[in-house]
Amino acid sequence: MCAMCSNHQQLFQLKTLRKLMYCSTVITVLSLILLFFNYRVDWIKFYKATSEPQIFVQPAVPQQCGQGQIVPQGQKVAVNKTKTLLMSAYQEHRTGRKEVRVIAVVLRSETVAYRCLLCCHDQLYISEGVSNIHTNHFGFAYGTADIMCPLPSGCETPSYITVTSAAADSEDKPDKEFLKVNNQKAISDSFPYNFTVCLSTMFDFTNVLQLVQGLEMLQLLGVNRVVIYKTSNSPEIKHVLDYYTQKGLVEVIPWSMSRFLNVSRGWLPEHGPGDLHYFGQIPALNDFIYRYMYQSRYVALQDIDELILPQSVNSWSELLPLLEKKYGADKCYMFENNVFPNTITLPPPTSETLPPQSRCCPGWQNVSGVNILAHLYQEPIIKETHYSNFKIIVNPRAVFIPKVHGLLDSLHGCSWVDRNIARMYHTRAPKQPNLTPDQLIYDGRLLSYSAQLTLTVNTVLMESGLLPEDCVCVLEQEAKL
Ligand SMILES: *[C@@H]1O[C@H](CO)[C@@H](O)[C@H](O)[C@H]1NC(C)=O
Ligand SMILES: *[C@@H]1O[C@H](CO)[C@@H](O)[C@H](O)[C@H]1NC(C)=O
Ligand SMILES: *[C@@H]1O[C@H](CO)[C@@H](O)[C@H](O)[C@H]1NC(C)=O
Ligand SMILES: *[C@@H]1O[C@H](CO)[C@@H](O)[C@H](O)[C@H]1NC(C)=O
Repeated sequence: MCAMCSNHQQLFQLKTLRKLMYCSTVITVLSLILLFFNYRVDWIKFYKATSEPQIFVQPAVPQQCGQGQIVPQGQKVAVNKTKTLLMSAYQEHRTGRKEVRVIAVVLRSETVAYRCLLCCHDQLYISEGVSNIHTNHFGFAYGTADIMCPLPSGCETPSYITVTSAAADSEDKPDKEFLKVNNQKAISDSFPYNFTVCLSTMFDFTNVLQLVQGLEMLQLLGVNRVVIYKTSNSPEIKHVLDYYTQKGLVEVIPWSMSRFLNVSRGWLPEHGPGDLHYFGQIPALNDFIYRYMYQSRYVALQDIDELILPQSVNSWSELLPLLEKKYGADKCYMFENNVFPNTITLPPPTSETLPPQSRCCPGWQNVSGVNILAHLYQEPIIKETHYSNFKIIVNPRAVFIPKVHGLLDSLHGCSWVDRNIARMYHTRAPKQPNLTPDQLIYDGRLLSYSAQLTLTVNTVLMESGLLPEDCVCVLEQEAKL
């Protein structure tokens, strides 16, 4: 009994051991399979994530137009065997000649005989391109140019274009990169937007509150679209820009030429080394004018810290008829620059009666950036800078070549706007840093927008998650800024 018992016990132990071994083998195999599967899944995910750009196939030009690809909007194209970069191409309807304007950045010291290759009804046409380098290159080695490509007869509305160098023609490979030709039709009314603002160029940008306030102010003034040529910004700014892009207000155009040249961070060579003026602002402005030529009734070229405020009416929609009547239609209207130093925060004078203010919890101190409503004192206008650093509103169809301040070439020129009709409020670092607070001049014009502005800014900050969603706004008679 005892022997049997022990025998039985041994047999039992053996069976258990076998079971255990079996179990552990199964578990090991299962875990190996799982591990492998996991790894596979990860690997497949990884492969998919990194290979996405490769899956994207650029459309090819029709066979009859040669061999090559159509580059996505905004991608720069290098002209082989030259230092020329092509930005974008637009059909020109105003010169009496049938032609396409290719906006380019060129090495000014280089002479190139350009050939334009036009794809028309899926047939290739060739014409001789003529380059015109804009004079506002500020002494940098590279400058902005228009390469004008005449349209051969039979090719009235080309779909795609590229430019080559005549000297490189013989040895050039058949492969070409083509740009889409935009503005195939000239439209004279019923534009999708009344006012489009161009902000060029955004770099190292972190000023969240002033960006949201600026974009909300522009909408209160009647602006429907804001185009931002963007080089770099903080993750918070990207978040805000994504929000506005989704809302349909903002179009962000990535603006980098670092593959081809080094842009300067300054507007003169002595202010920052580089090949091209200030982050490529001039080609950006040129691209903007043509891109929105038939999309917007008027455009404004300005910065996000600048606001053109009418004095006798409240919106640009009401202002423009006044300007057209007083200065003539289709002019560029120049608005005087007034600097409101963002380093000085003073309450409005006690004599002022203020409109009711909207207050919200927990307030804007938790959002990074400048609060324009807290800086209502301006530097006095001085002779030396009175007529500089102004910005403009213009009908883009009257413009050939824009500048940072004003226009280089246009149909009807520019007119100064009387500061009592409208002027520009520029909330920024002081230009006259030695002034004492009592030398600054109070201007509370912004406050007439402040109740509405506060409400819309808070809505945006809450909707985009920069302020808590249960933030409560109240109207207060007394403003304590
Ligand atoms: C320059 O030549 C290369 C090589 O043949 C080609 O892939 C590229 O598309 C050409 N560039 C342009 C602008 O046509
Ligand atoms: C443009 O302005 C006109 C007249 O002021 C107005 O009727 C129209 O709704 C505006 N369009 C947009 C897109 O705001
Ligand atoms: C930009 O400048 C750096 C430093 O001078 C240089 O090494 C680089 O090659 C330049 N890049 C281009 C695209 O010219
Ligand atoms: C505001 O910022 C302060 C200090 O950074 C922080 O303690 C507080 O929680 C923030 N409030 C909200 C509502 O985000």
